[in-house]
Amino acid sequence: MTRYFVWQLSVVLSVYFGYLLILDSSIAKIWIAFFVFTALGLVGLMDHIQKKHSILRNYPVIGHLRFWLEFIRPEVRQYFLESDGEKLPFSRNQRALVYQRSKNLSDQRPFGTIENVYSNGHEWLSYSNAPSQIAINPNNLRVSIGNQNCAQPYSISVFNISAMSFGSLSANAILALNKGAKLGGFAQDTGEGSVSKYHKVHDGDLIWEIGSGYFGCRFDDGRFDLEKFIQVAADPQIKMIEIKLSQGAKPGHGGILPAAKITTEIAQTRGVPMGVDCISPSRHTAFNNPVEMLEFITALREKSNGKPVGIKLCVGKPDDWFAILKAMIETRLAPDFIVVDGSEGGTGAAPVEFIDHIGMPMRDSLRLIHTTLIAANLRDRVQIGAAGKIISAFDIVRVCSIGADWCNSARGFMFAIGCIQSRTCNTDKCPTGVATQNPLRQRALDPEDKGQRVYHFHHNTLHALSEILMAAGLNHTSELNPDYIMKRDENSIVQPFSKNLMHMEAGSLIDQSPEIAFNGDHCYLASAWRRANPRFW
Ligand SMILES: Cc1cc2nc3c(=O)[nH]c(=O)nc-3n(C[C@H](O)[C@H](O)[C@H](O)COP(=O)(O)O)c2cc1C
Repeated sequence: MTRYFVWQLSVVLSVYFGYLLILDSSIAKIWIAFFVFTALGLVGLMDHIQKKHSILRNYPVIGHLRFWLEFIRPEVRQYFLESDGEKLPFSRNQRALVYQRSKNLSDQRPFGTIENVYSNGHEWLSYSNAPSQIAINPNNLRVSIGNQNCAQPYSISVFNISAMSFGSLSANAILALNKGAKLGGFAQDTGEGSVSKYHKVHDGDLIWEIGSGYFGCRFDDGRFDLEKFIQVAADPQIKMIEIKLSQGAKPGHGGILPAAKITTEIAQTRGVPMGVDCISPSRHTAFNNPVEMLEFITALREKSNGKPVGIKLCVGKPDDWFAILKAMIETRLAPDFIVVDGSEGGTGAAPVEFIDHIGMPMRDSLRLIHTTLIAANLRDRVQIGAAGKIISAFDIVRVCSIGADWCNSARGFMFAIGCIQSRTCNTDKCPTGVATQNPLRQRALDPEDKGQRVYHFHHNTLHALSEILMAAGLNHTSELNPDYIMKRDENSIVQPFSKNLMHMEAGSLIDQSPEIAFNGDHCYLASAWRRANPRFW
């Protein structure tokens, strides 16, 4: 059989049915067959003469099957081939847990674990023989931010919605997330696309993220506009302000929302013109080095009447983080909080190399930031949040034991509002209406119903977290430390997290040489510390 067989057969059948029509033109079925095979014959001709697709040129007509199969491959893989534990990037088990918790269905499992508890990398919590008798109220699992410097400190839940902009998410998605946040008393981060009218319908707590595009507080030329900042920050719904230095999925890259995707509403929300690409530069223009950044943070805190102001970053060179830390030591100024994002983080769209290989993973950055803040005697002034594939209560326990005070989840809450991980956020063709601006597609997402799901996911996760803490004899996530988590390492040796995590003595970066402070084990960090310049990025 030649590769032209289907095309040739279509032409032959077209001629055959054409001949039958000459004999008798009254039979509808023959007309249909004639049109179908004539159309296929013409498609084959077009395939053969076009120059764009080699496959179609070589395999006219039949070559289209390849494109169709490729198109449905993710669905076929997800529904029929993917195993329960395979992470793409979230496993079926992880997604199922969110779906169950958000629908308020039982999350119990029968029969026993399906994990291989003897596999390298397996982790578990050391529970207590004397579990806590006092039930923990999940609503009390909160952390106070900005106590030292802020007139309006914020008591944040230990589990919140991570930054995702209106623009990358649909209006209905934003409505649903904020409704859930309101019902559950937790916070939604606006993402760098600023505060839209959809964030304000349900009055759920907001963290206003300000990226390098200064959306919502910018002059027409893209520079930061303090007056506009003051107006927006005065809104009582905004509880904290977060300056985004970088995002784990695309650190150092900046972003672009193409003109074609900018609706009137997005343009109004961001304060950008229609018909022009909306650019987030790769670096800030309101400050040029760590010292200036701390001065900027201090000014924003003052101009927002004492709301906590912090930064979000994915660590790149340790030198850069150390430059910020040295600036804090030198100026005695500090952000009220730091949100640590990791290279495992999500995005609406980013170049593949950035997604896979740029920036430090969250747990490594978290430990670095937590430990060095202790060594600089600054840990009590700065609270730490963490985001990076946090789905279950055990994920929260793990990051809190490494050093986080609270956690954010972006894709977890996307699952709660119906995301099926089709990974089409960048195409505007999201099948569940979560990550699209297409009005017909986002109709699929009912904000009232999905808002309840957001609430249930948060509530049931914190309920599970309370039960874990009680089993360990604890009352709050703040009591966790790395000794609570055991891990079978790559050599099958069982050790507590504390054995392999970085550790530094309190104040050691102030009163000891960096070589001694970094225990001699991390000489590259001692060199990075020496190199770091608080007046230069
Ligand atoms: C669709 C989407 C949009 C995002 N937009 C932003 C953003 O505007 N600003 C930001 O700092 N992070 C953004 N992120 C990153 C998340 O806030 C979060 O830091 C990261 O995805 C890790 O959390 P996760 O593993 O729970 O998704 C976005 C993530 C997703 C999936």
